[in-house]
Amino acid sequence: MSQSLSFHVTRSDHPRSAAERAKILEKPGFGLHFTDHMVAVRWDKDTGWHDAAVMPYGPIALDPAAAVLHYGQEIFEGIKAYRHADGSVWTFRPEANGRRLQRSAARLALPELPVEIFVESLKQMIAVDKDWVSGADEASLYFRPFMIGDEAFLGVRGAHKASYYVIASPAGPYFAKGVAPVAIWLSTDYARAAKGGTGAAKCGGNYAASLLPQQQAQAQGCSQVLFLDPVEGKYLEELGGMNVFLVYGKRNTLVTPALSGSILEGITRESILQLARDRGMTVEERKVSIDEWKQGVASGDITEVFACGTAAVITPIGQLKGEGFTVGNLDAPAGEVTMSLRKELTDIQYGRLPDRHGWLVRLDA
Ligand code: PLP
Ligand code: COI
Repeated sequence: MSQSLSFHVTRSDHPRSAAERAKILEKPGFGLHFTDHMVAVRWDKDTGWHDAAVMPYGPIALDPAAAVLHYGQEIFEGIKAYRHADGSVWTFRPEANGRRLQRSAARLALPELPVEIFVESLKQMIAVDKDWVSGADEASLYFRPFMIGDEAFLGVRGAHKASYYVIASPAGPYFAKGVAPVAIWLSTDYARAAKGGTGAAKCGGNYAASLLPQQQAQAQGCSQVLFLDPVEGKYLEELGGMNVFLVYGKRNTLVTPALSGSILEGITRESILQLARDRGMTVEERKVSIDEWKQGVASGDITEVFACGTAAVITPIGQLKGEGFTVGNLDAPAGEVTMSLRKELTDIQYGRLPDRHGWLVRLDA
């Protein structure tokens, strides 16, 4: 299989004006606006990856019998571009996202996109839409690479035809209130993933399964839902779209659920574990029961809890609510360890601290 492709570039003949773009970048929100271009790369069983193109952003024509519309054969990624003070544009650990897309593809019986093409697709987007990367504080351009099975065939098997796309969306904070502590809802009625299921893959179906519990969370005044392990219903897994960490302040220890086969292996999670080790904290990846969380907060051993992911960065969790109980205080200020890890991670991403682990890749050169 070819590891590189040349991209055919067609520029939009109606890109947004500088003034229209500036208005959007002033208050981008999350996932609301899209840049002027997108990437598409085709795959079929006989020829492999081919027809790589940058084209004007716009609707995708699909045969009504396309596999993705019936059997949900879809995977995606989330990764950001950051503008540094000198104007250059960088991304964070793209090979890790490219490899995760390959693992997701393998699980969903989709073709594996070479990591080089994944990274090149982000560079191609920046070559045409660099002006969409805002230089404002905490702003970024969120890429949403995704792949669908688009063969027109109703038999249930892995599609023999697929397409990979990248769209990009200017992003401010994921949560409406910015970096303020959020409340989360413990779902005991539903699991996000099953043993042997697709929890470790980043596929649309996992998110579809999380939407009803997410609505329940919102009805309870919470902004995300926390899922427990699908076998015993006892151990923490993750939130609908983020991993979770507990801080044991007195022991200088960071604890996160071990990868269980049904948790998404977050790149932010892995980076935080590294930063914590670097500062001499003890890190534990292990089973964490919901009772440990409740008792730890009550005894004062657990001093902070936070969520992390590309979209959420690091977001303090002020309160955990569930059927008949509430733990923590939403009005308490964000924890010190949480905010200092957040600052270190974003300082690396925005080029304000040395990139000592070689995590950054330049996209505009
Ligand atoms: N868990 C889920 C379910 C997610 O959707 C995400 C977001 O991508 C994460 C965890 C965090 O992963 P990452 O840090 O790679 O963005
Ligand atoms: C991301 O952080 O990239 C995600 O895909 C999570 C989603 C909540 C936007």
